[in-house]
Amino acid sequence: MNRTPTPPPDPPAALVPARPIPDAARGPAGATSDGAEGLALIKPAVRAQSAYTLHAPAARRKLNQNESPWDLPPELKREILAAAEAAPWQRYPEFAPPALLAELAAHYGWVADGVLVGNGSNELIQATLAVALEPGGVVVAPSPTFSLYRLLTGVLGGHYRPVPLGRDFAYDVDALVDTAVREHARVVVLNSPNNPTGSALPEGAVRRMLEETGALIVCDEAYQEFGGPTALPLLAESSRLVVLRTFSKALGMAGLRFGLALAHPAVVREIAKAKLPYNVNVVTLAAAAAALRHGPALEERVRLIVENRRRLVARLGQLPGITVFPSAANFVLVRFERQPAREVFRRLLDEHGILVRDVSGGSELTQCLRISIGTAEDVEAVAEGLEQILSA
Ligand SMILES: Cc1ncc(COP(=O)(O)O)c(C=O)c1O
Repeated sequence: MNRTPTPPPDPPAALVPARPIPDAARGPAGATSDGAEGLALIKPAVRAQSAYTLHAPAARRKLNQNESPWDLPPELKREILAAAEAAPWQRYPEFAPPALLAELAAHYGWVADGVLVGNGSNELIQATLAVALEPGGVVVAPSPTFSLYRLLTGVLGGHYRPVPLGRDFAYDVDALVDTAVREHARVVVLNSPNNPTGSALPEGAVRRMLEETGALIVCDEAYQEFGGPTALPLLAESSRLVVLRTFSKALGMAGLRFGLALAHPAVVREIAKAKLPYNVNVVTLAAAAAALRHGPALEERVRLIVENRRRLVARLGQLPGITVFPSAANFVLVRFERQPAREVFRRLLDEHGILVRDVSGGSELTQCLRISIGTAEDVEAVAEGLEQILSA
């Protein structure tokens, strides 16, 4: 049969650009090419911060972001997609389904109205700092640590006071207490195990911080499943404690963005004011519920990572010219004594297809690389790659 092909319909009016797209070389009409007029309206404290960005070239073995090396099992993905498909997508999601809050509360051993869910735990770090910090308010944190705390403090108009970690990057709890008291800190942020060093807080440290300072103590436990103590039991004792957890690391759901804050219900109600409404979408809500249902299978993966960490540390410990720092997380920090870390990073990538994190830029981590713990094959590849590079 001979049919005349139908021409494609015109694009809907809303999709047609309303104005010509500006010539990138000349810049948008009416603005100076360096953006000075707009920049003048941005807070100096924001312009003083470095952006949180990551340049990550593609690589066979991706060990640069402390993710899980394993995707979710296909049957779990199907279960999540079926639940998401059954939800009405034209409707806003529930803020947090009560059943999910109850399951999270049971999982973490806390009360359901003391749980706040977020689009990743980063969102809840931001919300917590936003409700606690007044202009000029002081945030104390160990150094080095997760760079987002400093960035958000600056954006929110606070002052950031880093407290150096001690020998081998162990937590210096005395110095943290002293600084928090001296500076009248509004907030102390403790990341344990700490990114990028892997150091865990000693037992009793959070209780000490609560007893000896007047600050809101925010414990970012993004990596706690891999080792170190948790502050969760202290929630029942103090309304100045906020514990942050994420499904991005141990539960392997970084791409779906789900995290939570646990605190006294009265404090949770206040933090909730600074997060955006409908922050967790229907797919992620379905995924979070499914991950909790399949907890034991996912926990087995944590056991494997801890075993692979032990093997990597043992293998690297035999190499010359390298220091491996103790880690309770799903990554290890290593320092190279004989070759520039930057060169080791490049050669791992170019010659072995292994992407790790070059953290050697700052003064505290000179000559250091951070390596995420992957599969048993990843461990072998990293050990063999470094063996070759260090013996050359
Ligand atoms: C210390 C720390 N907290 C939080 C996060 C991110 O958590 P989420 O993916 O839940 O936003 C990371 C990610 O690398 C991290 O290192």
